[in-house]
Parts: sequence; C-alpha cells; structure tokens
Amino acid sequence: MNIALINGSPKGGATNSGFLLEKLRPLLPQEAAISTYRIGPKALKNEQYLELLAMDMLVLAFPLYFDAIPSHLLRMLTEMERSTQSSNQRPQTVRVYAMINNGFFEGDQCKLAVELIRNWCERCGFMFGTAFGHGAGEMFGSVGHVPVGSGPLKNLGLALEHLVGSIRSGESTEPFFTQPNFPRGLWKLSSTQLFWNATAKKNSLKPKDLRRRPGMPPIRLPQSGGKRQDV
Ligand SMILES: Cc1cc2nc3c(=O)[nH]c(=O)nc-3n(C[C@H](O)[C@H](O)[C@H](O)COP(=O)(O)O)c2cc1C
Repeated sequence: MNIALINGSPKGGATNSGFLLEKLRPLLPQEAAISTYRIGPKALKNEQYLELLAMDMLVLAFPLYFDAIPSHLLRMLTEMERSTQSSNQRPQTVRVYAMINNGFFEGDQCKLAVELIRNWCERCGFMFGTAFGHGAGEMFGSVGHVPVGSGPLKNLGLALEHLVGSIRSGESTEPFFTQPNFPRGLWKLSSTQLFWNATAKKNSLKPKDLRRRPGMPPIRLPQSGGKRQDV
C-alpha cells in the first residue's frame, strides 16, 4: 500500500498542516510505504505527478485560504487533473483524504474546501475517502507537547480516528468538522491580543486600524523621516 502525505501549506518552515501529517503518520497501517511531498512555489516535476498517480492513497493536508484551497496546491491539483485526462490508464483506485485546518475557531468553515476536493476527485476519477476540517489551527504550534486525544486535542484525536478508520476500511465516509477543546471566547481573546494586535503594532498600526471598513479615509503610516505615508 503506497500512501503520499502531501503538505499543501505555502508557508516555509513549520506549518499546522505539517503538524496534522506528523500526528497522522504513526496511526497509518504499518505495512504502508509512505512518501512525503511539500507543495511550494516551485511546480512539481512530471515524474512526481506520475508518482502521485501511481499511489494507492493521497492524503492532502492544507490550510483554508479564503474559504478555499491555497493557489500553489490548486495549481498542483489542476495539473494532476490534466494528467489523468491525458493518460490512457485512468487511475480509478486512487483514494483521496484531506485534513484541512483554518484560522477561525469553527472547523466547519472548511465545508466548501471539502466539496472542492470531492469535486476534484470526481473529475480525476479518484475515490473520495473522507476529510476533516479543524478550526483554530494556529493553536497547534503551542500544544505540540499535548498527546493527541487529550486536553485541547481531544477532538483532533476523534478527527484522526475518523480518517484512519476510512483508510483502513477502504470505505468512503462523510466529512467531519471540529475545533479544539478550548473555550471559543478565550481563543478569540488570545488571537486578538497575541496575534492581531501584536501584528498591527509591528506594522506601526493601532488595534482600531484593524477594524476600519473599506471606504474610510486612508491610514497614515509614520515614515523614518517623520513624514507620514498613505496606505
Ligand atoms: C491568505 C490567507 C487566507 C486565509 N483565509 C482563511 C479563511 O478564509 N478562513 C479561515 O478560517 N482561516 C483563513 N486563514 C488562516 C489559515 O487557514 C490558518 O492560519 C492556518 O492555520 C494556516 O495553516 P498552515 O500553517 O498549515 O499554513 C487564511 C490565512 C491566509 C494567510
């Protein structure tokens, strides 16, 4: 059994999608031959597309971007679709799984992206195994020491179990959407304080600048020479 673990996060370095793949890996069948792929700005080579088409299973892990799929990954999916249409042998047996993480708290923000993957499977002649969407993905970086299945990662344990159950049985199952076992309000407060306000400060903005609506007068940024610059 050949399984490709595909990280579709366009970020460099550590990613939340990588965290999900790392937690999934020990749960996969021991006899599986696992290959890993990172989808970055550089396109995959032709031979890599052929390798992917020869896999029994593809596990896509990616972040939600604008309720959909990041563009690097979309390019790769489009290329794969083209390959399946030009190839004489349609790879009917490829099974596809997706683990999507997003920034908002609720994992069901990923519903549309799951449908995009499901439609893509249909176009390629692949079998859609299952998928899950997990909210508050940026939390993963700070809970790496917590065992999956306990504390804030209790629901992640269930989501992985759901995916692995479908991989082992070969049956397609309905997608699963979840979020960390952590109070939503506390997540909102900490992401506002530790991420959004801190990022605003780094860019010489104030928290109130983040709440500006389109059409309001431009923000004036300080310049090194004391002059201000419009944004
Ligand atoms: C350009 C961009 C668009 C995003 N769009 C969404 C979105 O529509 N909904 C959402 O909940 N999170 C959104 N996010 C947040 C990411 O999904 C989130 O930070 C995720 O945990 C990143 O995972 P990664 O480390 O695997 O890249 C967006 C982030 C970026 C940079």
